[in-house]
Amino acid sequence: MTTKIETAKYKINTKTIPTFYFIGVTTGKSSIMKVFPLWMKELGRPDIVIEGMDLKIHDDPENYRQVVAQIKYDPLSLGALVTTHKIDLLIATRDMFEYLDPYAQICGEVSSISKLNDRLEGHAKDPISSGLSLDAITGPDYFGRTGGEVLCFGAGGSAIATILHLINKKNASDRPKRFVLINRSLGRLEGAKKMVESLKTDIKVEYIHNDNPAKNDEIMASMPPYTIVINATGMGKDIPGSPITDKGMLPVNGIAWEFNYRGELDFMHQAECQTQDRNVRVEDGWLYFVHGWTQVVAQVLHVDLKPELFNRLEAAAATIRK
Ligand SMILES: NC(=O)c1ccc[n+]([C@@H]2O[C@H](COP(=O)([O-])OP(=O)(O)OC[C@H]3O[C@@H](n4cnc5c(N)ncnc54)[C@H](OP(=O)(O)O)[C@@H]3O)[C@@H](O)[C@H]2O)c1
Repeated sequence: MTTKIETAKYKINTKTIPTFYFIGVTTGKSSIMKVFPLWMKELGRPDIVIEGMDLKIHDDPENYRQVVAQIKYDPLSLGALVTTHKIDLLIATRDMFEYLDPYAQICGEVSSISKLNDRLEGHAKDPISSGLSLDAITGPDYFGRTGGEVLCFGAGGSAIATILHLINKKNASDRPKRFVLINRSLGRLEGAKKMVESLKTDIKVEYIHNDNPAKNDEIMASMPPYTIVINATGMGKDIPGSPITDKGMLPVNGIAWEFNYRGELDFMHQAECQTQDRNVRVEDGWLYFVHGWTQVVAQVLHVDLKPELFNRLEAAAATIRK
């Protein structure tokens, strides 16, 4: 009864083939559209298709409820990976989920929507996937070995996931002494502060409300050598530009980590100009992409993602990388 009353509020498209959704902004341009069919073959499920659902950044809450209702009430809508809208979607739809994993509760976001029997489940996979990627970039004891810190532009879901991953590091030399978080809106910074304060950590997190690239340059210049500078704003993909200017100097021996792997990638190209003079290492978001997607696909399809399977999926994805 409840279901009938509830579904009457939404337009449910009854699927005839099993469908995995990708909820994002410009989903058609993502490499996953080519990678997904390869992965389904690897997993012995070539019948499953992927469908993109593009929503505006900070979209109307009703639109988030509509896409979640489609998954919740249509049996062949298996689940979804959520990017960009992870926080906004959960704020709009929290009451529609029967289960949220601990990371989803702490971070206030979902990147994976899946179903287990009649239960709609939300997981935040970013602390796992950004963490696996960061660990692969730095290797063990990076912060202890180098004294580097972290400067992160953007305080959205992926930035918060990265802080959480570092807070959870058991070994002190895997934790930076300081994590500087810069964001355009104050709300996101307040949300991040609330989350960090609810946990016990010796990482000194600084919150800076700013969207002026010249000021970001100044802050970046004050960071110690070996600092990891992250572009988690979506600038250079979701929105034009870069959080820094062309004059911005990355920390000597530092790492510039652009969270995206497609788009104009202005920040990444600015950093590439400093690989020689300042010995800056540049990383893009490809590995993050592969970890993020394999985590969610495994959750939605209820597959055990053993290292051997991950390696096969990573190799299949690499075949389509330009
Ligand atoms: N490679 C991968 O697989 C992967 C995985 C995760 C994320 N990503 C990418 O990383 C980006 C961030 O993802 P997300 O999920 O964290 O997105 P998000 O939740 O939308 O967060 C982006 C944050 O950046 C802030 N911002 C935008 N412009 C800014 C500026 N000029 N200065 C300071 N802050 C600014 C936004 O502030 P407001 O609050 O004012 O909007 C927002 O809080 C996206 O482009 C996403 O595609 C890639």
